[in-house]
Amino acid sequence: MIRENIKKMEEYKPPLEGRTKKNYLLLDFNEITTEPSPKVKRALKKFIDSGRLQAYPEYGNLNKKIADYAGVKVSEVMPTNGSDQAIDIVFRAVLAPRDKVIIPTPSFAMFYQSAKIQDACILKPFYNRKDLSFPLKEVLDLINRKVKLIVICNPNNPTGSFISVNEVEKILKKAKRKGATVLHDEAYFEFSKITAKDLIAKYDNLFITRTFSKAFGLASLRGGYVISQKDNIKQLFKIKGPYDVNMCAKTAALAALEDTKYMTSYVKRIMEKSKPKLEKFLTKKKIIFFPSRANFLLIKVSQPEKVYKFLKNKGILVRPRNDPGINNTIRISIGTIRETERFIRIFKTVPENYLF
Ligand SMILES: Cc1ncc(COP(=O)(O)O)c(C=O)c1O
Repeated sequence: MIRENIKKMEEYKPPLEGRTKKNYLLLDFNEITTEPSPKVKRALKKFIDSGRLQAYPEYGNLNKKIADYAGVKVSEVMPTNGSDQAIDIVFRAVLAPRDKVIIPTPSFAMFYQSAKIQDACILKPFYNRKDLSFPLKEVLDLINRKVKLIVICNPNNPTGSFISVNEVEKILKKAKRKGATVLHDEAYFEFSKITAKDLIAKYDNLFITRTFSKAFGLASLRGGYVISQKDNIKQLFKIKGPYDVNMCAKTAALAALEDTKYMTSYVKRIMEKSKPKLEKFLTKKKIIFFPSRANFLLIKVSQPEKVYKFLKNKGILVRPRNDPGINNTIRISIGTIRETERFIRIFKTVPENYLF
């Protein structure tokens, strides 16, 4: 009874279990390493004590607050249950079975999941093998009338690679000519400051997805949103269930948006202090890492599993990667300056033969 394409798929099961039990330093999921704004906790406690847990959600001014933050019109946003749902809804809206979708690879697992659920045909131009830069020429060359969707994960997870808005526009233009849609994933926008939102007015084939899970620190609550032209957003609302965003996510997102200073101060510390410190250390140690505009770095080591286990024993979680194109790497999320110092202290004790 189950469709063949679903039977052929594997569940996406990231290694989440047990990670918050011990007092690990969590550098494995690109979350922030501190709690979110204190305003979030206060708002959530107030909501829990309101005696309204039994009622279905009411969203009030959520769309307006998100739109104000993103600098777009209210009619141009749709809140979602994490940006995973935002991505999935865009895929469901534009891809029919056997349509082609371009996913520059390697990239975030849920793009492939959503494509497979639609039974789409996935084209995977590889990030440049040398420096993991975005394969712009290949992507442009691949766009034809059979391609219905092009994913630009900017910056890309897990490589950290990024492209300029000018380059995004080149893809959008060709996609528009050939009748294709572009999904611009901005999950790390607050860190990268790269956004295609000013192109929304000009291009009706652009969808942007964003999240409250990363810089705002609300990963456990599942909040995200899509930005696109009004008519597209109207269509997407038909796919989303009316209460997919729960009241805790809504309450937390609103409180976080009231305290963007907290978020921007965290981001500044990570990107201007911790990241340069980590990069300087890795350069000195002659460890290869790839240019990143996000709160994580992908680094080359000879034995990723061994490095992972070594660091885990010392209380630090990172993500070993062995996918084609990025074999022998680990992805390290970047924490506060103190956490970065701790990471460096421990990383210095990793046996050399695990690294080189
Ligand atoms: C590039 C990218 N997009 C989307 C997401 C999904 O985040 P969430 O569903 O928590 O909003 C992630 C999470 O790691 C990501 O790395």
